[in-house]
Amino acid sequence: MTEQIRIGALVSGSGTNLQAIIEACDKGAIDGRIVFVGSDKRDAGGLERARKAAIPTFVVDYRALESDPDPGNVIPPDDLDIDDLLVKQRLINFRDNPDGARSFLLRRITAEARLLEAMDAYPFDLLVLAGFMRVLTPYFIDRVNIDRDRPRIMNIHPALLPAFAGVDGYGDTFRYGCKVGGCTVHFIDYGEDTGPIIGQRAFQIQPDDTLDLIRQKGLKLEWELYPACIQLFAQRRMRVVRREYQLGKGKTVTRRIVEIKKEDG
Ligand code: GRF
Repeated sequence: MTEQIRIGALVSGSGTNLQAIIEACDKGAIDGRIVFVGSDKRDAGGLERARKAAIPTFVVDYRALESDPDPGNVIPPDDLDIDDLLVKQRLINFRDNPDGARSFLLRRITAEARLLEAMDAYPFDLLVLAGFMRVLTPYFIDRVNIDRDRPRIMNIHPALLPAFAGVDGYGDTFRYGCKVGGCTVHFIDYGEDTGPIIGQRAFQIQPDDTLDLIRQKGLKLEWELYPACIQLFAQRRMRVVRREYQLGKGKTVTRRIVEIKKEDG
């Protein structure tokens, strides 16, 4: 029997990608099984889908933690090295509002420490973000990616990255007047939607397509792409490598990219 990877999933919304992954595991299109579904929101539809599939669930209520007016209740974890974190983090610009930025990060990390604690009960090989709408700080990422060369947090983004990072990929694609839209699966790094790209799918946008139609076209591709990328991971067919390119005039650009091995046979 093929070895099964253990997949952890985080969701914030309706969980249609989660559903696609559950079904792909069930029918053997992914050599793996989902071992937990966690959420930052009690009412995330994805939790119900997990329960129906008899997958353990838990919630860490980010909003309650992050909006607690009493700063005394924000107790960051003991193992937080704030100086290291401030050097690594690329999520927030400290220049405009250093106190606000620091307070946001400390609150976010407090929530992340709770999330890690809940995840501790379920050992996993791969963590998939399936519509998880909270950016992850280096505190969380470093505790999951124990080996820097073997990232193991995947995300699906509703645009053809690096275009339209952020929360509304299909909306941004539509409003920009793009003639092609798409979705991207990538590994998470310290930036927002900047990590190494694993796979992408594209679709044509017709002149009279509405945003709703664009979303429908995109989601349909997401449900194929995400399981396919997870299966590449399960088959150990991907490797993250660092590439350096000479641009001329002494300039170079370096980027970590995903290399995908052809299937055996
Ligand atoms: C998807 O469009 C995904 O690309 C984005 O959030 C949405 C989640 O949808 N990250 P669902 O919860 O999987 O239905």
